[in-house]
Amino acid sequence: MESKQTSIMQKEIFEEPSVIKKLIESYITEDGKVNIELPEKISNIVIVASGSSYNCAAIASPLVIEYANIPCDCEYSSEFVLQKKHFVTPDSLYIFVSQSGETSDTLNAIRAIKQEGVKTLCITNAKDSTMWNLCDYKILSDAGEEKSIASTKALCAQIFCSILVIMKIISQAGEDISGIVNTMRRLPSYLERIIMDTDKIKTAARTVAQYENISILGNKNYYPVAKEGALKMKETCYLNVMAYPFGEFMHGHVAVLNQTSIVIAIIDEENAAFAQRNLEKIRKNYNPKIVCITSVQEFKSGDINIYIKTKRKTKAIFGALLTLQLIACTMASILDRNPDSPKGLTKVVKD
Ligand code: AGP
Repeated sequence: MESKQTSIMQKEIFEEPSVIKKLIESYITEDGKVNIELPEKISNIVIVASGSSYNCAAIASPLVIEYANIPCDCEYSSEFVLQKKHFVTPDSLYIFVSQSGETSDTLNAIRAIKQEGVKTLCITNAKDSTMWNLCDYKILSDAGEEKSIASTKALCAQIFCSILVIMKIISQAGEDISGIVNTMRRLPSYLERIIMDTDKIKTAARTVAQYENISILGNKNYYPVAKEGALKMKETCYLNVMAYPFGEFMHGHVAVLNQTSIVIAIIDEENAAFAQRNLEKIRKNYNPKIVCITSVQEFKSGDINIYIKTKRKTKAIFGALLTLQLIACTMASILDRNPDSPKGLTKVVKD
């Protein structure tokens, strides 16, 4: 039975358009400049975080390379602290992302790299948190208090702030950012439209909730989006959902599929032809149910196709993420789980 009660998680997902609106007002001036402070020279970036915040790092990292043309890596905080040596130059920038600003693994990572005299920046939702006070540069992701253990609006805000960093680097290099500024200004209304597509989301959630073998596929920036969708379904529905890079999935992993499985595929213009070919193969060989979340108008390879139409990758990332968050939250209510108190989890993970 689908619960009629609105969960805190759902309320926080619905706040995403207004969170982005507020961030635009705070950080992008009327004449299109980005109002954050960064070191003037940056040779390379490493982004370190845990959980959903790590997924932000993994979404941002290829965007930094593609748009700002700077080497960028991302690492899980818990792995970072185990590594004996880190790549450091006098102009390296280490970025730490955290909703709470208090996650032990990420704090330990900051303390470790600070010993090497590296410049640090945090993107956090908690002003005056330990992380805020430890880092040289700071960006408040300002999503408002996030009560739900399953992070949603805070992640959305973190990704936006990562894009602010990219825009600032590009403008510091003297290049034009008006195109990406305009795209970001249109983001809140784009997200509002996705939230309003409730029928499609409910149909998808009712279908996915019937399966226990769930695979989410996405290429490049959409792979961490797929991982985040899987994390949300794990936390709120207690299902063992796996995420894969789409191409890699075809190298053996695909054999887990059968008629009792469901595949959720994220598709944009760049991978549409590849996705269509491979979804046909998957259907022919294994016949699973297929749900497509696609920014490409008229892509029809799924049993259910959810359109998040846009030609801009930076917008489609938010659109796919929001769609997966809504599906996970609706699935929890269909499965009669309370997404606001997932078993055994706490909001802040400390030692
Ligand atoms: C997200 O839904 C989780 N609750 C969890 O993975 C979380 O993102 C992680 O523990 C990191 O927390 P932080 O952002 O506060 O550092």
